[in-house]
Amino acid sequence: MAFVDLTGVDDWVHTVNALPNLVVLILQRCRLTAPSALLHHNLTVLEELDLSDNSFNTLGVPNFFWDLTSLKSLSLLDCGLSGPFPDELGNLTLLETFRIAYNNFKGMIPGTLHNMCNLRSLQLGYNNIGADISEVIERIPKCSWRNLQELSLAYANITGEALTFVSNLTSLRKFDVSDNQLSGSVPVEIGTLTNLTVLDLGNNNLSGVISEDHLAGLMNLKLIDLSNNYLEFTIGSRWVPQFNLVWASLSSCHLGPQFPNWFRRQESINYLDISNTGLLGRIPDWFWTTFSHAGSLDISLNQLSGDLPLSLEFMSVVILSMQSNILTGLIPKLPRTIEVLDISRNSLSGFVPNFQAPQLQVAVLFSNSITGTIRTLVCRSPELRVLDLSNNFLSAELPNCGRKELKQRNPFTNNSSRVNSTSSFTSKITTLLLRNNCLSSRFPLFTQQCPNLIFLDLTQNKFTGELPGWINEAMPHLVMLRLRSNYFSGHIPNAMMELHNIRILDLSNNNFSGAIPGSLQNLKALIGTGNGTQFENPFEETYYGNFGLADRGQYNDSLSVVIKGQVLEYSKNTIYLMSIDLSCNSLTGEIPEELSFLAGLVSLNLSSNLLSGNIPYKIGKLRSLESLDLSKNTLGGGIPQSLTDLTYLSYLNLSYNKLSGRIPSGHQLDILKADDPASMYIGNPGLCGHPIPRECPGPPRDLSTNNDLESWRKHGLSQMDFLLGLITGFVASAWMVFCGLLFMKRWRYAYFGLLDELYDRLFVISVVTWRKWFRSTDVN
Ligand SMILES: *[C@@H]1O[C@H](CO)[C@@H](O)[C@H](O)[C@H]1NC(C)=O
Ligand SMILES: *[C@@H]1O[C@H](CO)[C@@H](O)[C@H](O)[C@H]1NC(C)=O
Ligand SMILES: *[C@@H]1O[C@H](CO)[C@@H](O)[C@H](O)[C@H]1NC(C)=O
Ligand SMILES: *[C@@H]1O[C@H](CO)[C@@H](O)[C@H](O)[C@H]1NC(C)=O
Ligand SMILES: *[C@@H]1O[C@H](CO)[C@@H](O)[C@H](O)[C@H]1NC(C)=O
Ligand SMILES: *[C@@H]1O[C@H](CO)[C@@H](O)[C@H](O)[C@H]1NC(C)=O
Ligand SMILES: *[C@@H]1O[C@H](CO)[C@@H](O)[C@H](O)[C@H]1NC(C)=O
Ligand SMILES: *[C@@H]1O[C@H](CO)[C@@H](O)[C@H](O)[C@H]1NC(C)=O
Ligand SMILES: *[C@@H]1O[C@H](CO)[C@@H](O)[C@H](O)[C@H]1NC(C)=O
Ligand SMILES: *[C@@H]1O[C@H](CO)[C@@H](O)[C@H](O)[C@H]1NC(C)=O
Ligand SMILES: *[C@@H]1O[C@H](CO)[C@@H](O)[C@H](O)[C@H]1NC(C)=O
Ligand SMILES: *[C@@H]1O[C@H](CO)[C@@H](O)[C@H](O)[C@H]1NC(C)=O
Repeated sequence: MAFVDLTGVDDWVHTVNALPNLVVLILQRCRLTAPSALLHHNLTVLEELDLSDNSFNTLGVPNFFWDLTSLKSLSLLDCGLSGPFPDELGNLTLLETFRIAYNNFKGMIPGTLHNMCNLRSLQLGYNNIGADISEVIERIPKCSWRNLQELSLAYANITGEALTFVSNLTSLRKFDVSDNQLSGSVPVEIGTLTNLTVLDLGNNNLSGVISEDHLAGLMNLKLIDLSNNYLEFTIGSRWVPQFNLVWASLSSCHLGPQFPNWFRRQESINYLDISNTGLLGRIPDWFWTTFSHAGSLDISLNQLSGDLPLSLEFMSVVILSMQSNILTGLIPKLPRTIEVLDISRNSLSGFVPNFQAPQLQVAVLFSNSITGTIRTLVCRSPELRVLDLSNNFLSAELPNCGRKELKQRNPFTNNSSRVNSTSSFTSKITTLLLRNNCLSSRFPLFTQQCPNLIFLDLTQNKFTGELPGWINEAMPHLVMLRLRSNYFSGHIPNAMMELHNIRILDLSNNNFSGAIPGSLQNLKALIGTGNGTQFENPFEETYYGNFGLADRGQYNDSLSVVIKGQVLEYSKNTIYLMSIDLSCNSLTGEIPEELSFLAGLVSLNLSSNLLSGNIPYKIGKLRSLESLDLSKNTLGGGIPQSLTDLTYLSYLNLSYNKLSGRIPSGHQLDILKADDPASMYIGNPGLCGHPIPRECPGPPRDLSTNNDLESWRKHGLSQMDFLLGLITGFVASAWMVFCGLLFMKRWRYAYFGLLDELYDRLFVISVVTWRKWFRSTDVN
């Protein structure tokens, strides 16, 4: 009854127990509740029980299972069972197949298994065994070793280096100890396991060599995964293996420098990953024909060079990754089957060829020398979702996919598309990255055909003109919009503030003028209160193809973001970096008060504009702010004291403005830029006080040279204590005034203009008072 929803059937155990002749019971993924213990069970002839994929979520295992001593096969995969492995397991002495992987068991497997002599398949992986491999093996019943065909201990927190035991498991077909911390070398005896079909040692800390002897006897091998270890292959170019692999992952093994010739006859391969294996030189011609039936090929992160074939249309590859090599020549015509292409970081040139790739979803072509137009790529690949062409030489306008393309996509509907030629094409693109090309036009109309866009980066191109008013309507889901370093001009349209999901807005280095639109509070994602919208993060996307997991996210550093004065590389966390950068434009007017609503904002850069007025005094409400750059404007007035509320602030630049009054101090402000704190305020002739050398009017704060101080200290009071008392009083009485000011906008400005002055006066008063007080006590 697998996959039948039995939610609500609570007493399923009793129901089943009423069927004493039951031999096979399969209730996989039935949404069952945990079985209750039975006093007397009638299932005396039950041989096979499969309860996998039911969320029992119990601590320990109900006794129900261990009483079924007639069982030959027990599957409890992914049942949410936790606690230690139960000792009672040993009672199931007839078991041949035992699968208990993907639970939350913790600790060593029990020592009671020694009578399980019929075991053939044992799956214990994805539990936290946390022991040495030799101890684990010791507890697997010796009497079963010669019959054991499958042993899976993947992802079980297993350490140690003694793998030689495998040669005694002579019947082994599947051996999986991947994703542990095994070290030492791979024993050469593994080559005697003639029936081995699956060998998975990936993601461990194994070292040493893999020689011909390791592989010679493995004539039935189909799957090999040795990836992410420190293994070195020493296999001659004339060696011919006896196996026909289907799946080979050797990523990060050392295979090079020559392309491994022993793959030449591996025509059955469906999945091949030889990325980062130290390969040098040309890709041999046989590569393309041998692997023409493969589904996934990854040869990235090597130093492979030379031209690619002009056409790969004869292949049937679905995922092709060749990134980070030194490949040259033209981009080949792609096979129609392709879904994911990554040829980034090579030296490929020329136009994107005219090809049909109707399934293409991800095209990562950044950092090459590609020229011309990308019309075919975007208009003929209706499934395209991610396109990264950053760092190329594209110059033609972005296409306007219209009737022509539609016709080609769908030759049988001649006339329906004629009705609405351009706007009837909608692309599925979510990520369009075109940084650092030579694109020159107005804001691309193509984006009107991309209602699903989430990430748009047009940084460092030659776009001109004003931004359209339809940005928010055409691309309502935008999370990142980067137009940095172009020639855009005109006002920032109000539509920009209707991008409710935007987290990264970068308009810096353009020629925008006019005021910053006031309705900043509509940038809901930056307010940080609403639930984050769900979207695919292209920087950590994983591709679930027909081949298990293949990393599709290997293009995360094509972008960079400027924050805290440094250029940081994008990583998968970049999109959580809420930022607004409007620096280097000609924006005028005041900084809108509404800015203070953006409590989620992490970085704000308004530097190098013509902004005037005051710094919004509620700036302290931007509680997440880590970087604030308001330098090179004509901002006036005082620096709001609320700046000291920004406890995460780690970069501040207020230099070159017309700010005046005393620099506030306290909290985070005092430890910023420890090497040269004055540089944060430089170029504001009206500012005074620590950390800049210019003192504020009134007596100096530093009284340590004063002779009075010594005797004052004798009385066990610090000057600070005294001041604190005084200030507390002052604050209490000022609070009512302050509250009033909070709500009266007009007063507020005047008040903060006065604040510095008041602060100075307070200081003067206190010092004078203190002196009086001190003198009198001294006399006493
Ligand atoms: C099952 O095993 C436990 C502990 O190993 C033991 O105490 C118990 O007697 C066994 N039950 C049967 C029915 O064999
Ligand atoms: C792995 O096992 C060791 C030893 O039992 C334990 O200390 C450690 O916490 C385990 N690691 C994890 C990630 O559970
Ligand atoms: C494995 O087999 C060898 C002989 O083939 C034997 O000497 C050795 O003791 C066996 N190891 C174990 C742990 O049984
Ligand atoms: C390998 O498998 C075949 C067929 O299943 C079997 O006859 C043979 O005994 C096995 N070899 C070993 C060493 O177990
Ligand atoms: C991995 O192996 C190397 C030696 O090959 C050793 O120095 C290192 O500590 C090991 N790392 C872990 C995590 O076991
Ligand atoms: C499509 O149009 C062409 C010419 O414009 C015509 O010859 C052909 O019959 C049309 N096909 C259909 C299915 O209408
Ligand atoms: C094509 O247009 C004709 C008349 O203009 C119409 O009768 C026919 O249904 C249309 N065909 C399709 C597939 O839309
Ligand atoms: C063409 O598309 C536009 C914009 O989507 C729409 O307003 C218009 O009604 C469409 N025209 C026809 C004839 O479908
Ligand atoms: C910037 O815009 C102003 C008008 O707002 C214009 O006069 C000026 O020429 C522009 N500068 C550049 C470099 O385009
Ligand atoms: C966020 O979403 C969850 C469930 O999707 C909901 O329970 C919660 O109330 C939401 N929080 C806010 C602040 O909207
Ligand atoms: C992605 O970026 C992170 C942080 O910059 C880096 O550690 C990681 O290696 C990158 N991943 C790839 C596949 O380049
Ligand atoms: C703000 O922008 C200016 C000009 O684009 C840049 O020089 C500065 O480093 C940026 N500030 C921060 C904190 O990133």
